[in-house]
Amino acid sequence: MANESQAGVCNDAVPRNGLASLARRSRYVLNQGSRVALYTLHSEVMRRMTRRLQETLPPVADPVPDGPVPSQRRMLADIVKLFADDLASVEAGHYPLPRDGRMSPRELLSTSRAFFKDVPEVARRRATGAHQEVFEDEERFATSLPRYYRQNFHFQTDGWLSEDSARLYDFQVDVLFSGATAAMRRRALVPFAEFLKANDQRKVQYVDLACGTSGLLGPALSAFPRLSGIGLDLSEPYLNVARDRIANRRASFLTAKAEQLPFADNSVDVLSSVFLFHELPPKIRKAVFAEIGRVLRPGGLFLFVDSLQKGDVPDYDGLLSLFPQLFHEPYYTSYLTEDFAAMGEQAGLVEQTVLPAFVSRIATYRKST
Ligand SMILES: C[S@@+](CC[C@H](N)C(=O)[O-])C[C@H]1O[C@@H](n2cnc3c(N)ncnc32)[C@H](O)[C@@H]1O
Repeated sequence: MANESQAGVCNDAVPRNGLASLARRSRYVLNQGSRVALYTLHSEVMRRMTRRLQETLPPVADPVPDGPVPSQRRMLADIVKLFADDLASVEAGHYPLPRDGRMSPRELLSTSRAFFKDVPEVARRRATGAHQEVFEDEERFATSLPRYYRQNFHFQTDGWLSEDSARLYDFQVDVLFSGATAAMRRRALVPFAEFLKANDQRKVQYVDLACGTSGLLGPALSAFPRLSGIGLDLSEPYLNVARDRIANRRASFLTAKAEQLPFADNSVDVLSSVFLFHELPPKIRKAVFAEIGRVLRPGGLFLFVDSLQKGDVPDYDGLLSLFPQLFHEPYYTSYLTEDFAAMGEQAGLVEQTVLPAFVSRIATYRKST
């Protein structure tokens, strides 16, 4: 009888848990699936628009890969794997079910319109090699910012330096990454969650370097409800969007250079940076790593999310070589072979893990104790 009653409890509980899990998975698949469809559609329309625009613009050389390029099918399989890992992390309790990119229909329509309105401008810059508009427009853009920073990265309008650019940024990145951007960033929350198991969230000093519009800071504060965090960036307009998005007293923001951090030695527990290092000249990359080594406390954690490097996933090597041929990415080629493990070592940081997540590499470093 005892066994029967135990079996009764199990029989009752399993379907309920099963139903909750099914509902969670369905919500996840619906959310991510619709995002992939939305951004893939935008990418396809942009490609066609660009092809038509090119008929009236100076010819652009076809990009030539220097290695293997994954098929569409392979990339889709890797996106599906990324989502499966993401959902598994939710189910393991590392972070709550994400609500990526919820936009009202009106907001979606206006962002989509702004995105397509900008396509001819990007095509013009690509065809004419115009990537110094930000540098040349001394009236609109502060000349006190570093020279390497004042460029039209990706041929984008106004570089990092206008409200329009900041409002479009996430949409543009999602078109590039087929809606998988947020899931790639979230891979960094797994080692972050592990770190917080051994450290009281309320006392952890956390800084997201080059936080942009809060792509990682926002999800980190949602995932860890007692954590406070500082978003640091050089772009006022991007920080303004971040401020609008995270109306949360646990978030604060600082305008500063990642290579000159306004923090005392050994004062920060966790630092993160997403998609920063490939935008930096080699000398500045080294300076940023040195600063991370200086401000992290012994045993502190650095979470690195950026593009894959050459050899991380050899099947993607050729695709990586196409990126700087298609977009203004002056430092990307040298980024591809940068030895971050050695750079970390010089800064007193030990590389602990390096994992691919679709087109990103997620690495963790600990400051030696
Ligand atoms: C590709 S975006 C990444 C933004 C964000 N981390 C994300 O996940 O989308 C690069 C960001 O780095 C910032 N940035 C570039 N160089 C910087 C520097 N030296 N110091 C601080 N921020 C910098 C830019 O302003 C921009 O917001």
